[in-house]
Amino acid sequence: MKRILSGMQPSGKLHLGNYFGALKNWVDLQEEFECFFFIADWHALSSLYEDPRLIKNFSYEMTVDWLSAGLDPEKSTLFLQSKIPEHAELHLMFSMMVPVPWLERNPTYKEKQEEVKKVDMSTYGFLGYPVLQAADIVLYRADFVPVGIDQAPHLELSREIVRRFHNLYKKKVFIEPDAKISDIPKLNGLDGRKMSKSYDNAIFLSDTEKEVTKKVKQMLTDPARARRDDPGDPDVCNLYPFHKIYSPQSMQDEVAESCRSAKIGCGDCKNMLTETMLEGMRPIMEKRNEIVKKPKDVEEIIAEGTKKAQLVATSTLDRAKQAMKFK
Ligand code: TRP
Ligand code: SF4
Repeated sequence: MKRILSGMQPSGKLHLGNYFGALKNWVDLQEEFECFFFIADWHALSSLYEDPRLIKNFSYEMTVDWLSAGLDPEKSTLFLQSKIPEHAELHLMFSMMVPVPWLERNPTYKEKQEEVKKVDMSTYGFLGYPVLQAADIVLYRADFVPVGIDQAPHLELSREIVRRFHNLYKKKVFIEPDAKISDIPKLNGLDGRKMSKSYDNAIFLSDTEKEVTKKVKQMLTDPARARRDDPGDPDVCNLYPFHKIYSPQSMQDEVAESCRSAKIGCGDCKNMLTETMLEGMRPIMEKRNEIVKKPKDVEEIIAEGTKKAQLVATSTLDRAKQAMKFK
């Protein structure tokens, strides 16, 4: 069985953008691959180093979301990065051989510098972010790494680091990982901007039925429909993509038709969406109710997974040191 590895930075509860952008894909991959999924809490420290105490609770919330959404500890190994010191050790060893210009030309490095204003991101650790990511991946000899397109440069860098290591020490210890880029349905937030916790426009996996209903009501629609009898265009509407995800084809067609002919108003359309959306989200909501009753189990799942991951990490790091004759 081919092996998959991926990680997420803990930044608190996950929203539908995170779910359809990554998590749902992970849940599906469990059926076909041997999967390792981890909480990238050291990576989170790169932007939260002023407030590291937030990370623990963020990690817990994210794990509950993972389990509610269907990540299954019987099928996948779920673990916490910072409990496995091999990530840090391999990161350090790689850092000795990775030329700084490889990191300086990394597009996410430059973008984040401009984007994040609240905290100084011109740190040594953040420059090396993709080096730590490379260590994460290759420690588990993963064949594929499911990530969004924004992470493609990091995967390319991981491959370059692997090649450099193999060239230097003349021994193939690692697997050159392939990115597994998924198509992400375009879902924006309530206000039409990218869905994001910090824009306060997100629908969370952990929202209650009442909250979801309220948020759908607030959603921006086609601004051309200022009055009930103005025709609209589902293709420019911010809400319609949610129908595409949650509603059956027949409803999608009906909504599109009746929107264009102004047979229905946005209120009607939202009522229909609320129903299909809640139906789609209900299994996740129900699973969550079970999980939060036993927070101890959540911790145990991660502890168990970490033990399993540790074995793989130890063995790979050992082989890397042997290849370097540094042992
Ligand atoms: N950089 C990734 C992100 O922000 C998180 C991450 C850290 C990761 N290490 C990884 C993803 C290893 C895949 C593999 O989404
Ligand atoms: Fe969007 Fe539906 Fe309103 Fe049309 S009727 S603009 S699809 S919310």
